[in-house]
Formats: sequence, C-alpha cells, structure tokens
Amino acid sequence: MERMVVLKKEILRIGEEALHELQQLNNSEALQELKVKVLGKKGSLTALLRQMGSLGPEERPMMGQVVNEMRSRLEKAWEERSAELEVIALEKRLAAERIDISLPGSRVASGHYHPLTQVVEEIEDIFLGMGFQIAEGPEIESDYYNFEALNLPKDHPAREMQDSFYITEEILLRTQTSPVQIRTMEKLHPHLPVKVIAPGTVYRNDDDATHSPMFHQVEGLMVDQGIRMSDLKGILLNFSRQMFGESREIRLRPSFFPFTEPSAEVDVSCMLCGGAGCRLCKGTGWIEILGSGMVHPKVLEMGGYNPKEVTGFAFGMGVERIAMLKFGIEDMRLLFDNDLRFLQQF
Ligand code: DAH
Repeated sequence: MERMVVLKKEILRIGEEALHELQQLNNSEALQELKVKVLGKKGSLTALLRQMGSLGPEERPMMGQVVNEMRSRLEKAWEERSAELEVIALEKRLAAERIDISLPGSRVASGHYHPLTQVVEEIEDIFLGMGFQIAEGPEIESDYYNFEALNLPKDHPAREMQDSFYITEEILLRTQTSPVQIRTMEKLHPHLPVKVIAPGTVYRNDDDATHSPMFHQVEGLMVDQGIRMSDLKGILLNFSRQMFGESREIRLRPSFFPFTEPSAEVDVSCMLCGGAGCRLCKGTGWIEILGSGMVHPKVLEMGGYNPKEVTGFAFGMGVERIAMLKFGIEDMRLLFDNDLRFLQQF
C-alpha cells in the first residue's frame, strides 16, 4: 500500500510537471522532445509503469488506471498545445510575409511607334479620309521604273540630282517612290479614278544634317477625267491643315520635274511663326514641304492611260522633313540614331 501511494504521487508529480513545462514551450520540436522524455520508451512515466511489477495484484489495475488517465491528460494537452503553436507559427509567417498592397506597382515598360512611323500613319489616315488607297512598290527597282518610265531617259541631267546606289546597270535602290506611279497605273488601267498614295523607303547617296542615304517618301497620284491643278491644290491644302493646323495656307511655286508638267513646289505657311517670318522659315513665312505637278502625258502613256482622255496630278513628300517640321527636330540623323532618350519624347 505504502508503495502504491509513493508511485501514485510520483506519477502525479511527473505528470503535473510535464503539463506545466508544456505550456512554456513555444515550438513543436521542443514539444516533441518533451513527449519522448516523458512518454517515450525510456520516458519517466514509462519507467514508473515498469515498477508496477512490485505492486500487489489488486493494486495493479488501480495504478494502471492512474497512469492511463495521466497519459491521456498529457496527450490531450500535447495536442492542444501543438495546435496552438501551429496557429502562432502561421501568424508569425503571415506577419513576416505580409505584402504592402498600398505601395505603387512597378510599371511595365511599353514601347511606342517610331516618330517616322507615327508620321507615315498620320499621312495615311489623312489621305485615306479623302478616298485615297495605299499602294506599294519594291525598294530594289529597275532603271526603267525608277527613271525611264518617269520621263528620265538615260542621259537626262535630272538624274544627277538623285545620285544613286546601283546594283547593276539596270537595277538600283529606288531613289524615289515615283516608280510606284507607273506600277500602279500598269496594274489599274483602264480603271478610273486612280487615287493612291505610296509610302516607302528610298535611297540616295546623300548624308548630312538634312539628308540621309536612307529616307522615306509618300507619293501621291490621282488620275481621272478632268483632273485639274485646282484639285491638287485643294487636296494638298486639306492635307496641310490636318497635318500642321487649321490656320495653315499653302502656295504653289513653279518648278521642274521630268514627270510632271507643269510642276510646282508646294510651301506651307510657317507653323512656328504663322507666316510673319522667323528662324525656321528663314524669314520668308513659308516652308517647302513637297514637289508636285500635273502628270506628264508621257508618264500617263507609260502607265497605259490615254493623255487625251485623262489627266492627273502627282506629288511626293519627304517623311523625315514632315516629321522634323511637326516635332521641331533640327537634325535628321537623330531620327536614325535609335537613342531612346531622343525617341521617348515622341
Ligand atoms: N520624286 C520627286 C523627288 O524624289 C518628288 C516628286 C516631285 C514626286 C513631283 C512627284 C511629283 O510625284 O509630282 O524628288
């Protein structure tokens, strides 16, 4: 009996101690260690259980009950504490991983069209709005389309203005978009009206602040019965106002191109000073933007149209020049340097 009382006391002591210690532990590893120390094979409670052999047969079931009760109390406490610890660990982790959604997000960089592309698209939009269609031709062109069919025979002095990149005697990088006039008429004749613009890249042996060996033009061609120079002027005035502002005026100055007769250089009133005269327009109030004229009868013929039945106008403008005027760019080479600090401004 004496022995049983001692054992029971011991069990309660070990149990209460473990229960108390349990509440102090704050991580699941320590919890597990304690469990092994008390309830494991070599645990303190298990050791007591072994001593039951020294008890009388009627005492053993009573002791067994005491031990089992204590064991289940301990196990329950362990479960509760370890659930508590899990919650604590989760809260800790959530606090550590908290994302501050009030911070401004980092912006995804997105590109935009090159200023020249923007200008070409704007020119296209304006002419599409006036019922023109878009035509294209090859950049590697034959001497025939680039010069001959445009009324520039082999010995013509005007060829010199377009000092060119030849691939063979007969093949060259086109020096202008005008060959698309011929290609378009060949394709469309005898259909009327012909009403196209032809944007594209052209090449010349030129290189300075206002000339690049590779640049861009937009050609225009309209052929129909009874087309007059006033049609040309009206279309170009409309274009200039949409491109450079409603208050622009234009003027036509006599000029020469082999593929137009008569030919005219077209000026627009200065977009910087409005015509009063400034540095941009060199004091004249006017800025040249393109060449134009009435399509030469020989060119109409080359395209398959009868110059006795139809007339037409044509024009050609430099895209870089338009872009420089529109954006106030002074050196054409900036457009091709691909310096993002420059390009991002447009
Ligand atoms: N092709 C000419 C050039 O590159 C520009 C030009 C002038 C085009 C008059 C035309 C035109 O269609 O009628 O200098």
